Amino acid sequence: MKVGVLGSGSVAKTLASGFLKYGHDVTVGSRTPAKLADWAKDNPKGRAGTFSEAAAFGEIVVLAVKGNSAAEALRAAGAANLAGKTVIEATNPLADLPPTNGVLHFYTTLEDSQCERLQREFPDAHFVKAFNSVGAPLMVNPQFAGGKPTMFICGNDDGAKKTVTAILDQFGFETEDLGKVEAARVIEPLCILWCVPGFVRNEWRHAFKLLK
Ligand SMILES: NC(=O)c1ccc[n+]([C@@H]2O[C@H](COP(=O)([O-])OP(=O)(O)OC[C@H]3O[C@@H](n4cnc5c(N)ncnc54)[C@H](OP(=O)(O)O)[C@@H]3O)[C@@H](O)[C@H]2O)c1
Repeated sequence: MKVGVLGSGSVAKTLASGFLKYGHDVTVGSRTPAKLADWAKDNPKGRAGTFSEAAAFGEIVVLAVKGNSAAEALRAAGAANLAGKTVIEATNPLADLPPTNGVLHFYTTLEDSQCERLQREFPDAHFVKAFNSVGAPLMVNPQFAGGKPTMFICGNDDGAKKTVTAILDQFGFETEDLGKVEAARVIEPLCILWCVPGFVRNEWRHAFKLLK
């Protein structure tokens, strides 16, 4: 597949390298593509460009920018470049506040979510919430004694979720589909839970698994 990754941070670069590992074609986008020079040097098959170049390139798009700039980044990517495409939505709606005893703050409530806001603004894109509930170093084929971790996903388009499930299979996760986009109200706060052991005990190497 051709994948356009929006972002120049650790999530964007990790996922972009993961897609290259599995033979996909990747363009990573940033407001300042020069920021991606080191990544491009280490990943000669990958390309760097602007947000709109990356979105236009991708048959699927990955959104991996700072939460409160997500809408702005998608506007720069261009609604027409997102229409009809699967958009893997990996952001978290983190407020610009320090954690309280290890508990991060969100600018959303439990009655709304980042993913719903983006889906409302870009109704023709098929958003799938994924990859937000685990740290970047654990996003591609993480190894745990307890087996494969679970990735919780949601979104309104079943075809898009099928595409993301196949990617998650490659990246070494079990997928738990929680339904339509409103489920992002509970998937996004998993990020807060995931970070607590990190902030409180400096433990960052864990992931969620749903036991059945
Ligand atoms: N770090 C993790 O382990 C982790 C794990 C799960 C989920 N997440 C979520 O994944 C997302 C990416 O996290 P990250 O740590 O890789 O990077 P980050 O530092 O949260 O975000 C960096 C990206 O945000 C973009 N950005 C910042 N301000 C912007 C603006 N005003 N307009 C447009 N774009 C703007 C930057 O664009 P430029 O390239 O143009 O500078 C850059 O690509 C976040 O939403 C985060 O909450 C992070």
